[in-house]
Parts: sequence; C-alpha cells; structure tokens
Amino acid sequence: ATDPGEALFEQLIASDSRIEPRDWMPDAYRRTLIRQMSQHAHSEIIGMQPEANWISRAPSLKRKAILMAKVQDEAGHGLYLYSATQTLGITRDEMTEQLISGAAKYSSIFNYPTLSWADIGAIGWLVDGAAICNQVPLCRCSYAPYGRAMVRICKEESFHQRQGFEILLTLMRGTPEQQRMAQDAVDRWYWPSLMMFGPPDADSPNSARSMAWKIKRFSNDELRQRFVGMLVPQAAVLGVTFPDPDLRWNEERQAYDLGPIDWSELQRVIAGEGPCNAQRMQRRREAHEDGAWVREAAAAYAATKAARAQE
Ligand code: 3HC
Repeated sequence: ATDPGEALFEQLIASDSRIEPRDWMPDAYRRTLIRQMSQHAHSEIIGMQPEANWISRAPSLKRKAILMAKVQDEAGHGLYLYSATQTLGITRDEMTEQLISGAAKYSSIFNYPTLSWADIGAIGWLVDGAAICNQVPLCRCSYAPYGRAMVRICKEESFHQRQGFEILLTLMRGTPEQQRMAQDAVDRWYWPSLMMFGPPDADSPNSARSMAWKIKRFSNDELRQRFVGMLVPQAAVLGVTFPDPDLRWNEERQAYDLGPIDWSELQRVIAGEGPCNAQRMQRRREAHEDGAWVREAAAAYAATKAARAQE
C-alpha cells in the first residue's frame, strides 16, 4: 500500500516544487540525499587542507588575506551543508565518524598536492570553476534545504573562481619562470578537475534516480562538457594550454571533443590510493582529536546551563 504522502511527494517533484524536511519522502530519496550532501560537506572540509598549505607562504599580504578568507569560506560551506544534511535525520557526530573512520567519500580532487603557489590559482580557476558548474544546477535541487544552501555557496564560489583566475593571469604576465609555474599547475589540475563531475554517464549508478527526483539536473558528462566549453576561451585569455592534444571544437556538435579521461585514476583516488589520501585523513583525524576539549567544554557548559534552568 502506498503511503498517503507519496502522491503529494510525486506531485511536488513533477511540478518542480520543493520537498521540505517535514514532508513525506521515500526512504531511498532520504538516503541518496544524505549520501550526496554529507559527501559534499566532507569535500568542503577536506578541501581546506590543500589550500591552507599556502597560507603561511602566500607571496603577499593581500594574497594571504584572500586565501585565508577562501579557506574560511570552505569551512562555512561545510558547516552549512552538514546542517542541511542533519535535517534528514543524521547527526553531525554520525557524519564526522563516517569521515574519520574512512567510510565516507569526499571529492577526489582534494587528494592531490599543492606543489607551488600557482596551484592556488589553478584550484581557484579549475576546481572552484568546476564546483560552480556543478553547484548552480543544485540551487534548483528538489530538496529545499540543499537548494537554499547552494544559493549562498555559489555566490562565494564565484569569488573563489575569480581570485584563482586573477592569480594565474598575474603569473602569466610575469617572468618566464612564473609562466612555467602557472602552466605546470594547469597541466596537473586539468584532468582531475574534469573527474570532479563523476564517472561517465554510462558508469553512473546514481544518476538515473537522482535525475528522476530532480536532485541532479544535468548528467555528469553534460556538466563536464559545459565546464570545458567555459574554460577554453578563458585559457586563451590567460595564454595557458590544456594537456589534452585531442581537445578540439566540433562544429557539428557545437561543443569541444575531449581526449580520453583515465577513469582508472578516478577509481584509484576514490579507493583511497590518490597522492594525498592518507595525509588528508591523518590531518582530519588530528584536527578532530585536537578539538575534543572544545566539544567537551561546550557540552559541559550546555549541561550546567540546562541544570540551572531547571533550578
Ligand atoms: N570523487 C569522489 N567520489 C566520486 C566522484 C569524485 N570526483 N565522482 C563520483 N564519485 C562517487 C559517487 O559519490 C558515487 O559513490 P557513492 O554512491 O558511494 O556515493 C560513485 O562515485 C558513482 O558516481 P555517481 O555519478 O553515480 O554519483 P552521483 O550521482 O552522486 O554524482 C557527483 C557524483 C556529481 C559528485 C554528485 O554527488 C554531486 O553533484 N555532488 C555534489 C557536489 C560535490 O560533492 N562536489 C564535490 C566537490 S566540493 C567542491 O567543489 C567545493 C568547492 O569549494 C571546491
């Protein structure tokens, strides 16, 4: 027997309306949102590490201030997304435990090292640029708290992308050594940023249902294609090239043909064998342990406050 709420749920989805936390929803809808939203939140938090690596070594006070603001934004995005995920009935502690234990996924992109200052520019331009491509459609996600969180996050992401582009532009207008540094960073971050959009549509087990429920509005390959279409003219302005000899405009398709992507690399990184997976997890565990006293103090304070309120 179907639940009386099911008809309303189907009607809300069909009419492009929103599902609120207290609305009836299929268990599988709830589960796939907890899966995607918690992984999105984990990605934001882990993503602070590669960038933070250059805060103490930024080339100027201005660059340091901008990078600190960006890393703080990522922390805020993570907290925003954890809060939105909690509306589905999972606790913050459960999600933290899933990340700390290594059970949870987070975006593959954050398992690569930041080897030079130019990486901070490449991350802003490519990684935050890919994030914008992926996150703008999520503003219209059928699950309302997720869509609302994305509106705020996308605004800040645009600043992240802009400052990354500007770092690379500055380097490309600099010495030959600076130009080589920028091109080297683009060469290292290009393919991993395309993998952020997920496996090819034919290998994407969650896409069909996510699209039917209007969580995912465009397929992995569609967004990847859109991203490259945005990048090519920007690369021309920068004067950088992409490490894809097969990248060329296809007049018939009115889109760029891409060279083959090494999907075995994505599988390896997702499986924990990327360049920095162990380091990222180790750092996250340390941060959790280092922060235990804050959680205990906050809990003790809340307990005494509650006890006093009872007096
Ligand atoms: N890294 C890690 N895991 C990935 C991945 C990647 N790049 N791409 C896909 N996967 C995982 C999926 O999570 C899924 O595993 P699961 O079922 O255990 O969760 C599996 O590979 C198959 O992929 P699907 O395409 O079937 O999965 P989805 O339909 O969930 O699509 C996605 C993957 C496009 C990443 C989607 O989950 C999504 O849009 N997530 C929200 C956005 C997000 O998480 N972005 C990550 C970067 S965060 C960021 O960019 C912040 C910015 O500040 C830099």
